[in-house]
Amino acid sequence: MNYMSRTASLEIDGKKYEFPLVKGTENEYAIDIKTLRGVTNGITTIDPGYKNTGSCESAITFLNGEEGVLRYRGYAIEDLAEKADFLEVAYLLIFGELPTKEELEKFHTDIKAQSHVDEDVKKIIDGFPKSAHPMGVLSSLTSALVAFNPSSVNVDSEEEMYNAICRILGKFPVLTAWAYRKRAGLPLDYGDDSLGYVDNFLKMMFKKPSGEYTSNKVIVDALDKLLILHADHEQNCSTSTVRIVGSSQAGLFVSISAGINALWGPLHGGANQAVIEMLEAIKEDGGDTKKFMAKAKDKSDPFRLMGFGHRVYKNFDPRAKIIKKSADAVLEDLGVDDPVLDIAKGLEKEALEDQYFVDRRLYPNVDFYSGIIYRSLGIPVEMFTPMFALGRLPGWIAQWREMRLRKEPIGRPRQVYIGETYREFKPIGKR
Ligand code: SDX
Repeated sequence: MNYMSRTASLEIDGKKYEFPLVKGTENEYAIDIKTLRGVTNGITTIDPGYKNTGSCESAITFLNGEEGVLRYRGYAIEDLAEKADFLEVAYLLIFGELPTKEELEKFHTDIKAQSHVDEDVKKIIDGFPKSAHPMGVLSSLTSALVAFNPSSVNVDSEEEMYNAICRILGKFPVLTAWAYRKRAGLPLDYGDDSLGYVDNFLKMMFKKPSGEYTSNKVIVDALDKLLILHADHEQNCSTSTVRIVGSSQAGLFVSISAGINALWGPLHGGANQAVIEMLEAIKEDGGDTKKFMAKAKDKSDPFRLMGFGHRVYKNFDPRAKIIKKSADAVLEDLGVDDPVLDIAKGLEKEALEDQYFVDRRLYPNVDFYSGIIYRSLGIPVEMFTPMFALGRLPGWIAQWREMRLRKEPIGRPRQVYIGETYREFKPIGKR
């Protein structure tokens, strides 16, 4: 829709107010209500879940939910998933341009130089029970990084900002692998600078104490692609959390730690674990997908079809399409036969033909098939959401950096108070 007018009018009690229309480079429009409360003597807006409210202007990721379009810095997700590698995409998201060969090599070298995690961090990990969920361990360790890297980020210094970015990109894979190895009862391993970024992460995850690590290109390429697909997604719940925490001038590491916690929820990044648990339950229950479809549609039942639906995509999530195609190829390459893949495809087919899902434009999202690939790569289900976090890290960094460089104001939404009006205090003897 191309609006010709440059303003939006609001009329309250016969009085008219005009607000400017902001137009983005992809012809998206927003009503700029920065002056609303002032000119109307206190009226604000309310929009639970911010379904109609933009929090910022951003140049990082564009998505069109109606058409199922996703682009990072103008590049189509389909091209990046096919032709780029994860570190290249991380550079693109954070700095705005695809790197030259020399820039990418220097970026990787600088990240490797920052990948050492202080041995004392292992003492923190020792304090967790083996049963601790890796997302809780990961958010704690990411926060703890501040203790070992106290210098807060002076974003006005390009060099300090760059060093902080390389530091978190270097240490986060180590922390993620250590969170897994703690739970698996394996010694905490360090990386190998001769390996690529994703290959090195897999080595830290899976190197057996008594054996050598052998790279498997199918596994490395599959995980690399999954991380690219998860790398950013504009103002989703966890990214908005990173931005609002960073808006108080809290540091990069603690802002990312907050994002990890937001991502953990089953309605957000935790859905990839919930999908596999749901598919396993359907398999255990004899594969009766109709029963679970009925539960998903039953308003009295809290059960939702995990991996389905999206706040923005009212069409196929382009990432789900790529992951579904990749799942077939990876499982075949690895000679893995996972019955839940067929259950997932059956469920998808049923849902796409079911009026309830059609009416609400509920399609498979990024989480619906990703767990099937993670599992075929040997990644345990409790590590699925940490994989999402590892992929989303460059997006969180890019969004935090953009927010700070643009000197965005501290995030502080208003509210509509619906509690008690003034009442006299009653001494306890009179209550
Ligand atoms: C991610 O924002 C992002 O970009 C997120 C993400 C990213 O990359 O950062 O894409 C990653 O979080 C993907 C989403 C993963 N979550 C799930 O798969 C959990 C299952 N999905 C739902 O809980 C839900 O679809 C949400 C949370 C994803 C979106 O919820 P909304 O936008 O708030 O939609 P809603 O809850 O208002 O639902 C609208 C209707 C409701 O029915 P009615 O009240 O209109 O009758 O659709 C129904 C909902 O009950 N509905 C579902 C459903 N999702 C929505 N019904 C059954 N199963 C579902 N999965």
